[in-house]
Amino acid sequence: MRHLIDITDLSTQEIDELIAVAEDIIAQPEKYQNVCRGKILATLFFEPSTRTRLSFESAMLRLGGSVLGFSEAASSSAAKGETVGDTVRVVSYYADVIAMRHPKEGAPYAACKVSGVPVINAGDGGHNHPTQTLTDLLTIHRERGSLNNFTIGFCGDLKFGRTVHSLVSALARYTGIRFVFISPEELKLPRYLIENTLEKNSLPYEETASLEEAMPQLDVLYMTRVQKERFFNEADYIRLKDTYILDSEKLRLAKPDLAILHPLPRVNEITLEVDNDPRARYFDQAGNGRIIRMALIMKLLGLKA
Ligand code: CP
Repeated sequence: MRHLIDITDLSTQEIDELIAVAEDIIAQPEKYQNVCRGKILATLFFEPSTRTRLSFESAMLRLGGSVLGFSEAASSSAAKGETVGDTVRVVSYYADVIAMRHPKEGAPYAACKVSGVPVINAGDGGHNHPTQTLTDLLTIHRERGSLNNFTIGFCGDLKFGRTVHSLVSALARYTGIRFVFISPEELKLPRYLIENTLEKNSLPYEETASLEEAMPQLDVLYMTRVQKERFFNEADYIRLKDTYILDSEKLRLAKPDLAILHPLPRVNEITLEVDNDPRARYFDQAGNGRIIRMALIMKLLGLKA
């Protein structure tokens, strides 16, 4: 039985295979409409979500399967004090695969140890978000035709942004990638990623506080929201939340074929006028989430079209 807790649970070859299946789903969706007939996905979301939960559910429904679950801890027996372990152990009698989001780092890992069915980490605290990473990789692949040889800038909250952590881990395994980390001092990428992922593998990176200075060299710009829910101090959040606001003026400094990504939701960090720029790819990126999750569900259930 396979789980997906961390993006490194998948080999580079497996990621490339998932992207190939996703491309086939886009080309021939009718081929996949009954692949999961009779199978059930449980979505256990102890934290809010729009894209991840609904794209998982849409993915299973598009594969001909069924879904059940909850969208907040308050409507589950977690509100009565039930542990994550007991919840998952029970739900694995009701479903064939579980997608789980939890505010505590490591909760999906603990869950997979007692689950009778595959567990997918749909985001754990400020730690990881591997299926967002698969979404991001599919989007970059569709935009650039390859996952090698480009410069990517990560901008905003690189400390608490779990999507950034997972994507850096994934891209570290491809070749010819330059990383530019754009953040205020307080929201820099965690040292463990700098040391264990980038420096250990001699990968080129730079850190800067200036989006304007970084912009001209970027092929992909990955904007992020400042993660209000992870701050201990509201005054710090208010001080940092609008550090970077991408607008048309700043985009004048960018390459004509830049791809602007954002895992969403956005708050203030991309102005609405940018949505009309052909370089804005974040809504297509959200759409890709459903496609790659279809491919992932099939893989973890051992099913093919
Ligand atoms: N990108 C993402 O995780 O969005 P949601 O929080 O809406 O699921």
